[in-house]
Amino acid sequence: MATGTVVSIIGTAVTLLGFLLDNVPDSDAGKATLNFYIANDGAGDPPLTDAGGDLPDVRLWDETIEFLGINADPGFCEEGATTCKVEVSTEEAPTYALFTGNNDAICIAWTSITFPGPGQKYGWHPGNWAYGCDLYGVGAGAWYYAQTVVPGLEDSQDDVYCAWLDADGDIETTAFQVHWPEFNRFQEGQDPEDISYYCENDPPMNFRTDQDPSSVIFWPTKKGKRDLFTPQSKAEKKRGTERQVSRISKRLASSTDIVKSHWPKHSAAKLCDPSLHAAGKSFVSYAEKAFCYMPTKTLYPFCDTVEDGACFADGNNTVVVKGAANARVAIPDLGHVTNSVIWGPGV
Ligand SMILES: *[C@@H]1O[C@H](CO)[C@@H](O)[C@H](O)[C@H]1NC(C)=O
Repeated sequence: MATGTVVSIIGTAVTLLGFLLDNVPDSDAGKATLNFYIANDGAGDPPLTDAGGDLPDVRLWDETIEFLGINADPGFCEEGATTCKVEVSTEEAPTYALFTGNNDAICIAWTSITFPGPGQKYGWHPGNWAYGCDLYGVGAGAWYYAQTVVPGLEDSQDDVYCAWLDADGDIETTAFQVHWPEFNRFQEGQDPEDISYYCENDPPMNFRTDQDPSSVIFWPTKKGKRDLFTPQSKAEKKRGTERQVSRISKRLASSTDIVKSHWPKHSAAKLCDPSLHAAGKSFVSYAEKAFCYMPTKTLYPFCDTVEDGACFADGNNTVVVKGAANARVAIPDLGHVTNSVIWGPGV
């Protein structure tokens, strides 16, 4: 099978993306292979490695919820990388996968699996789903703009998001799972489910905040094995995701970079929206003429657009206060910022 379509989210619309499965490498016999595209910080020299980090532990199950295997601590993967892979020894068809973060946080823009083989191939855009379900109103995983192209979104770099995974508390998202077959629609005319189906049900995909998750949340099987693992309840999941994604903010507060994007779709307001779960570096949107200071998720307009109050001076990366009446307004000190990373068409 040469081509297929993969169900993804662009904005809040569930979309079928044409996708060349031929681009996904084959697996060796006896192994399932998972491939990763990591978000690209887009910085030059020295390269920034915040989006790069430790690849997640990968656990696989089949459709009857038989546990097939794990590859733990598979190693480091650089920001912008498209060739990192993780193999899990199995002869079977691993339709469920759980990705559990390790200590160095990583932001994954795309992942795929090839069943042992050369076998069936599936792909998934975790960042787009984290963002899309966030916008839909179901708290999901921590996300950021990915600044890379991924399979299915080769022509729209500004539509690609990444989803964070971490184990040591810099980021609240500790794991995500995917039930691969629900994200591929091979038959002509087979429509994707509604966005609510994906965001409100746990088995197709979900994002976790509990510590070091090791179980998958699955659809009931004929064998009635549902209680074998202890799936997190929906209530627990909600509680978890209502907490602020704030700790990475502390680490990134000391980042010497600000990301500045000319992509019209890249929104500083969305990154700063406390009801969403964005995490990452502070960010300028030229379309919005606004700066999001991520440690506190405070949005500042550009100084040339306001007469009064706290505002961002893009020329010297400083938050300043206009108007004598506002002299006591607290503003962040960006004195440690030495580098502007520019994103956008043609950059
Ligand atoms: C930065 O630029 C703004 C606007 O031009 C100015 O008001 C402010 O004094 C400058 N700050 C520094 C530290 O140079």
